[in-house]
Amino acid sequence: MKFYVIVILFISGLSHAASQESAAYVPGLGEIMGSIQMRHAKLWFAAKGENWPLAAYELDELKEGFEDAAKYQPDFKGKPIAEMIGPATQKPLAEVAEAIDEKDSLHFVKAYDQLSRACSSCHRSAGRGFIVIQRPTTPPYTDQRYDARP
Ligand code: HEC
Repeated sequence: MKFYVIVILFISGLSHAASQESAAYVPGLGEIMGSIQMRHAKLWFAAKGENWPLAAYELDELKEGFEDAAKYQPDFKGKPIAEMIGPATQKPLAEVAEAIDEKDSLHFVKAYDQLSRACSSCHRSAGRGFIVIQRPTTPPYTDQRYDARP
């Protein structure tokens, strides 16, 4: 009798461990947005430092953040996030990419403000109008050189 109890406990332990391993980790939208926010801030300082390859890199990472949002959180509390991202961000992202290509600081600043407005506007559409995005005033990390030109 005791033996059966032990076997059952052992098997249920195994299956519990297996189910925990198979439960894939899915990042929340707030979490993904946090990393988008970090890229958004770094992007500003890279362009300010005229480190255009770094700016291009941060922009790519930012876009990957949006891809993650569409992939992991396509529907967020009834809002079709995956479908909202393209219309909201395509144009300003393309403007920013163009400015980086041209190494044009003035164009960059205009495009960057457009992007920040697009961020805030999607927040409004998603019922998060209190999350407002603007130009950063301090680098998010100070252990990385934004002006280091290769
Ligand atoms: C497709 C719509 C959409 C776009 C575009 C968008 N966001 Fe968001 N963002 C959201 C939603 C929805 C939330 C709320 C998530 C939650 O409540 O968990 C959010 C939350 C946030 C937060 C709050 C996270 C926190 O922990 O404080 C920040 C910061 C943020 N977004 C930054 C940005 C930035 C920067 C951009 C533009 C580069 C951007 N977002 C573009 C939909 C969007």
